[in-house]
Amino acid sequence: MEYNNIKLIRLEADTEILPFDCGDTDLNGFLFEDAKKYAKELIAVTYIIQDDAKTLAYFNYLNDKISHTDLDGNLAKFIERIGIHLPSEKGGHKSYPAVKIGRLAVNIESQIGGLGKMIIDYTKGTFTNNNKTGCKFITVDAYKKSLPFYEKMGFKYLSSKDKKSDTRLMYFNLQSIC
Ligand SMILES: CC(C)(COP(=O)(O)OP(=O)(O)OC[C@H]1O[C@@H](n2cnc3c(N)ncnc32)[C@H](O)[C@@H]1OP(=O)(O)O)[C@@H](O)C(=O)NCCC(=O)NCCS
Repeated sequence: MEYNNIKLIRLEADTEILPFDCGDTDLNGFLFEDAKKYAKELIAVTYIIQDDAKTLAYFNYLNDKISHTDLDGNLAKFIERIGIHLPSEKGGHKSYPAVKIGRLAVNIESQIGGLGKMIIDYTKGTFTNNNKTGCKFITVDAYKKSLPFYEKMGFKYLSSKDKKSDTRLMYFNLQSIC
């Protein structure tokens, strides 16, 4: 899909949010009712992709970590699952810094048009180029219906415990693209 005249903006208190519908009531509601509150409270920063008339997509970020506690505190399993073993005084790092994609949604009419992939690629670039803090992973609590999308984007499952849940914790190792 070709996009003309689109821009990426950071949501601020005075941003006018243009019409948006991704087909999911919760995700639509978050953008209009909660996103500015989350920004003010320093919980999550939201970015919007829009053209002249509508919001094409939005996504937000918050600090996160992945930890052996996500695997019942089993450090050996954690090391095996993420495939990283950085020795430490206590045997190995038990957690690593991450950025969480709190929400990601694309306007219904634009879905399967490449915007989702563009946002994931942008995220991978943003947190590896000139990064100001250490950030080893991208995480997401992915909706069931979007699991195949994140799998295609190279994300993996941390645990099988959430197999039957509405959302599953997935992660992407940023070092794999450095
Ligand atoms: C899931 C979502 C963010 C994906 O964004 P998108 O712009 O539609 O996806 P893209 O066009 O960039 O897709 C990239 C690839 O993933 C595939 N893909 C996207 N969504 C998919 C889905 N739900 N199931 C299977 N494959 C999917 C595309 O076919 C494409 O594959 P290709 O590279 O082989 O051509 C978007 O469809 C959306 O907002 N859905 C509704 C809200 C939602 O579920 N958000 C996720 C919350 S965690």
